[in-house]
Amino acid sequence: MTTTPQPTGQPAHGDDAQQAAAKRNLWLHFTRMSSYDHADVPVMVRGEGAYVYDSRGKRYLDGLAGLFVSQVGHGRTEIAEAAARQASQLAYFPLWSYAHPRAIELAERLAALAPGDLNRVFFTTSGSEAVESAWKLAKQYFATIGQPGRYKVLSRELAYHGTSMGALAVTGLAAIKTPFEPLTPGGVRVPNTNFYRAPEFVARDLEAFGRWAADEIDRAIVREGPESVAAVYLEPVQNSGGCFPPPPGYFERVRRICDSHGVLLVSDEVICAFGRLGHYFGSQRYGYQPDIITFAKGATSGYAPLGGMIASDRLMEPFAEGTATFLHGVTFAGHPVSTAVALANLDVFEKEDLLGNVRAHEAEFRATLEQLSDLPIVGEVRGDGYFYGIELVKDKSTRETFDDDESERLLRGFLSNALLDAGLVCRADDRGDPVIQLSPPLICGPEHFAEMEQILRSVLTEAWTRL
Ligand SMILES: Cc1ncc(COP(=O)(O)O)c(C=O)c1O
Repeated sequence: MTTTPQPTGQPAHGDDAQQAAAKRNLWLHFTRMSSYDHADVPVMVRGEGAYVYDSRGKRYLDGLAGLFVSQVGHGRTEIAEAAARQASQLAYFPLWSYAHPRAIELAERLAALAPGDLNRVFFTTSGSEAVESAWKLAKQYFATIGQPGRYKVLSRELAYHGTSMGALAVTGLAAIKTPFEPLTPGGVRVPNTNFYRAPEFVARDLEAFGRWAADEIDRAIVREGPESVAAVYLEPVQNSGGCFPPPPGYFERVRRICDSHGVLLVSDEVICAFGRLGHYFGSQRYGYQPDIITFAKGATSGYAPLGGMIASDRLMEPFAEGTATFLHGVTFAGHPVSTAVALANLDVFEKEDLLGNVRAHEAEFRATLEQLSDLPIVGEVRGDGYFYGIELVKDKSTRETFDDDESERLLRGFLSNALLDAGLVCRADDRGDPVIQLSPPLICGPEHFAEMEQILRSVLTEAWTRL
């Protein structure tokens, strides 16, 4: 499970009434609420640049961009003003049969930025909705072109693709699925690209490992029956499990496999789009052409909620004629305020060349984090762009990981709190092997990397002594 910071029994702070109301009325996501029975809920009240401040005035470096969201950083008044202007002019109108100017402008701009013939933008309000929308589009597309048997979707072990029932069926994390079964039928798992834990026969050759992992997709499609498979969902860099970048040649091979079976390739870029990997879209970094890109999070840097999918011209074709209609919609999708915010967000990207900033500094980010490799608890530092996972191990030489008990004590009992206490927002996650994840705002530079490294070094050093 993801480990949210657990209370350390610090004295009560902030407004007592606010704390009481938080504990009585607010339900935190993926959080053991009982852990706040005898301690305070951290309450973030303000943000500025790469930093956020809690209700006691304590400052934290936002090493996770909130939740892989705040690309341009906090406190951007120009984006807030764009939202206010739009709300005053037209706060709401649906995209059901109507359009509004900001949705049109944003769709045009995203189509221009997206790779190849991905020209059709369908907005949602979240990443899970984007993932579900892509599945529904794939199913209805195939039904419309006379292949109604195609309904299954392949995705990778441990991959997180959202929490609504359909998105959960695409998600590869058994622990967060079990209570909700039976799920939407059709989710099929294939191996991920965790080279650190590669099977022995490909463990010393990254390219061979990539070929094997791609060919497992081929074998799964053949096993399931190609005529029953609609799509393969892959993140450019898989987040859950701790940042698995693709081996060289992996996506090229997967693209060929999908084409050979007439299966769609969905690039789930809810995290990896909008500069996280130094490009507008993660698929551009690795040079592959998806049939659909799903996005959310960084599209607005969190100043308002927005998600969506960008589909290829080919997928739109059957819906462009006669009575054909994509039978799907969401009341708040493509909300005028959210689309105005997304446009203002993209303006900041351009004005400040944020993609350039990531590309100029990513090598230094990696090098700074890799300094931590001298610690006995650090097994591997992996990732790309401004997106890294640090895998923690009990024994570096054997790569032995922690048992459930140790993991519970290490991550929940100590690390999450200690990192927050030391002033760093990041994520200690043991949905796969235990990792610390970093995904800072794209405005960050060397001084922020150094701050992250120093905090991680001192907290991980202390963690080791407690094992
Ligand atoms: C790759 C990926 N897909 C989908 C989602 C779901 O997005 P949301 O939480 O906006 O529904 C997430 C969320 O973290 C994600 O990382």
